[in-house]
Amino acid sequence: MTALHDAMQRIEGLAPLDRFVSPVSDAVHRAVQPTTVRNTLSGTWLGHPFHPMLVAVPIGAWGMSALFDIVGGKQGNRAAGTLIAAGLFTAVPAAATGLNDWADTKAPESRVGAVHAAANSSASMLFLASLALRFRGRIVPGKALSWAGLALVGGGGYLGGHLTYARAMNVNHTAWLDIPSEWTRVAGEAQLPEDGTLTAHCDGQSILLSRGRSGRVSAIAATCSHMGGPLGEGERTAGCVTCPWHGSVFRLDDGTVVRGPASSPQPAYDARIVDGAVEIRSVR
Ligand code: FES
Repeated sequence: MTALHDAMQRIEGLAPLDRFVSPVSDAVHRAVQPTTVRNTLSGTWLGHPFHPMLVAVPIGAWGMSALFDIVGGKQGNRAAGTLIAAGLFTAVPAAATGLNDWADTKAPESRVGAVHAAANSSASMLFLASLALRFRGRIVPGKALSWAGLALVGGGGYLGGHLTYARAMNVNHTAWLDIPSEWTRVAGEAQLPEDGTLTAHCDGQSILLSRGRSGRVSAIAATCSHMGGPLGEGERTAGCVTCPWHGSVFRLDDGTVVRGPASSPQPAYDARIVDGAVEIRSVR
């Protein structure tokens, strides 16, 4: 355990990787600029990051191919080859979603993500070479390469798990936010701008208040669900707020995600104005 922990710390400290990370993440950001592309790859349409779902397919296919190699005998060769090809095919969308997610990270997560991507890309190359050997009838070296690929996929998976579970990448940063169920005063009505937003506080949490065209007041969590960006510093346009960190756009009246990378909506609260004060409570 300690050795793995030390290895992770060493990878997180690989500053020379930053030289390559920056131009690649810039190129990825340019490629995912259209909202449809961004929302599709981020899982905004799914309400959940897309990458973890997609990676299960090539990992499963390659794992099954190894099983056929071991217990399938001669008849298992064809099945193993088909599974390797299926894994290679489905690794493409898995890599695309991973790149999209990774492009929003900063060091040390970007360094771990770069090594994760390198391990999985190398694994894909090994599976491709394995497939070529198998087509030529060279089954034994083909098996050796695919098993080496599977070992690399395992290492890459460990790094991916580290990013999510140890570094909280792509988890919903509003998951534990809650406010009282009783009406609670958070600001004076006069503080609330007509066209902007106001960051108030309730029970230790930041709340983003705004006024709609009809004059109705709205309240959503001010901490971005994507990676915790401060929505109070974001720009308000057309009833939405844009996160200043990675550009997620949320509707101010109900917290719905309009544009990723966020995939979870902002928590929205009941809000009203009583006796010149803005009051909020959790939605019942
Ligand atoms: S923190 Fe990433 S879009 Fe808000």
